[in-house]
Amino acid sequence: MTIQIAIDGPASSGKSTIAKQIARQLNIAYVDSGAIYRTITYALLENNIQPNDSEAIKEQLQQFDIELMADQDYFEVRLNQQPIGLEIRSEQVTAAVSEVSAYPFVREYVNHKLQQLSRNYSVIMDGRDIGTVVLPEAEVKIFLTASAEVRAQRRYEENKQRNQLTQSYEDILQAIIERDRYDSNRKIAPLRKAEDAIEVDTSNLTVEEVVNKVISMIQPQL
Ligand code: C5P
Repeated sequence: MTIQIAIDGPASSGKSTIAKQIARQLNIAYVDSGAIYRTITYALLENNIQPNDSEAIKEQLQQFDIELMADQDYFEVRLNQQPIGLEIRSEQVTAAVSEVSAYPFVREYVNHKLQQLSRNYSVIMDGRDIGTVVLPEAEVKIFLTASAEVRAQRRYEENKQRNQLTQSYEDILQAIIERDRYDSNRKIAPLRKAEDAIEVDTSNLTVEEVVNKVISMIQPQL
């Protein structure tokens, strides 16, 4: 039997941290859907294609070799047979990804790959439209939120720890607000809570508390 768990929410709400820990505990694959949109955006920028050039993006998308590798407890995105790394987390990619991911043909391309993958494996998948569009039949749907200020502070601390403090707290906050605005207002598959999703506000919770809370929601389905 396979189980599908959907975790949606705004930028930097802790989705990947929480989903990774749960995947480890349940011994299932954590699927980072945002990483695929980021990989496409990275590859476009590498080819000097701008996010507003829809015709060039459409054409280029057919040329890309983007593969999702998965196993029971493993998931990886590969670009031209190479595993992708931190290059998809750069400021440039982050600034352009929302525009690229708003194109319907980009979303179709990604959704097809995600749905194929989750047919064969139990997954915990995070993103913006997993509970609403990609896995509407998911057994458990979580919508993770936190105030924009809390999310910016967490991202700032994370960057500091990684010695990657290239943006001030204020810049991070503005970038988060802008990306949420773009992701929430696009016509296709906007960021929103599925009707049957449970909202968890993580503003005043530790990672462990959130993980335990979500695990207790999954447990009855196992
Ligand atoms: O999750 P992450 O912040 O890495 O996602 C990067 C961007 O990819 C989001 O801001 C959004 O524009 C897009 N995205 C999306 N749908 C998803 C996952 C990500 O549109 N399911």
